[in-house]
Amino acid sequence: MTAPAPPIGILVELTHRCPLGCPHCSNPVTLERPGVELDTGTWKRVFAEAAALGALHVHLSGGEPTARRDIAELTRHAASSGLYTNLITSGVGVSRKVWNEIVEAGLDHAQLSFQGADEATNDRLGHYDGAWEKKRAFAAMVTSAGLPLTINAVVSRPNLHQVGAFIELALELGARRLEIAHAQYYGWALMNRAALMPPRDETEAAIRLVEEARKSLAGRLVIDMVVPDYYARYPKPCAGGWGRLAINVSPSGKALPCHAAETIKGLEFWNVRDHSLAEIWRDSPAFNAFRGTDWMREPCRSCERKEIDWGGCRCQALALAGDAAATDPACSKSPLHARIEAMASAEAEAGSDAIRWRSYREATVEA
Ligand code: SF4
Ligand code: FES
Repeated sequence: MTAPAPPIGILVELTHRCPLGCPHCSNPVTLERPGVELDTGTWKRVFAEAAALGALHVHLSGGEPTARRDIAELTRHAASSGLYTNLITSGVGVSRKVWNEIVEAGLDHAQLSFQGADEATNDRLGHYDGAWEKKRAFAAMVTSAGLPLTINAVVSRPNLHQVGAFIELALELGARRLEIAHAQYYGWALMNRAALMPPRDETEAAIRLVEEARKSLAGRLVIDMVVPDYYARYPKPCAGGWGRLAINVSPSGKALPCHAAETIKGLEFWNVRDHSLAEIWRDSPAFNAFRGTDWMREPCRSCERKEIDWGGCRCQALALAGDAAATDPACSKSPLHARIEAMASAEAEAGSDAIRWRSYREATVEA
């Protein structure tokens, strides 16, 4: 097998600790305890290896990455390794002192999540009273430090009507970029799908609104959008294609091709404690399982889009079709597509309000 091109970046889940309890959280349902987190020295080695491998940027993520006491030290090492550093944060619990240390350490960019575009929605969906004011204060610290700010809004039925308000909020806070990402249904969001699935007409209206705003705000605000693929014609190229662009590393050091890869039982994930990032990228069974197109069956195998969307999402194929190697049922060519679309519409219409908030207490937690 020819060696794969280097990854563009790595996303490091420094910890699964987080003050928020979002029902759409992209962390696995089995959260990792603080006791299993990699130590400072190992993370530093991972950053140096990522840079040597050719990665350009590192996303310092979690959970809440600033829950790590060594966040400034890690940022400094990642930056001095030559990586562009992006902090992905809830903005809750970041003191001015810690923020100043992170900036001084060489942070390049901050990405701040909002769960709603007003106080009540934000604090309810984040499951944290007072988060709204803390997030706004954090945004002000980012812009006053002169760093570029991205606002990240995960949208689903409870807040989809706020897409316009999210755009206003991003402008008001001085963000340069707004990422509106529909909840992706694996892990926590899959458990909460009946409460999160939006109706098709509201989804399409939100997409139109974003398209218009992109034109009217060109040059002022970049708006990226991830659409809910249950209603799409073709799936998204999940993670940019399995093992093509990025490496995720879990708090305990498991190297994953995407954040939900552990839902696929039977894959062998190598750990950065035991292998270099270069070995993992080139040789690990998990990264090679669905890399490229050789693993595909029909209809993907002969499809003209197979090197555009790379067969969609393996984790979604497992969740919906029971087979990670199946065509993603989000694709209109999948034999399951019509059934999945009908199920999404039925769930959106039924409109459940029962939400299971992300928490250590409710999750199955590794020792
Ligand atoms: Fe993508 Fe496969 Fe659907 Fe073609 S058949 S559009 S490759 S998911
Ligand atoms: Fe795993 Fe899409 S989340 S491939």
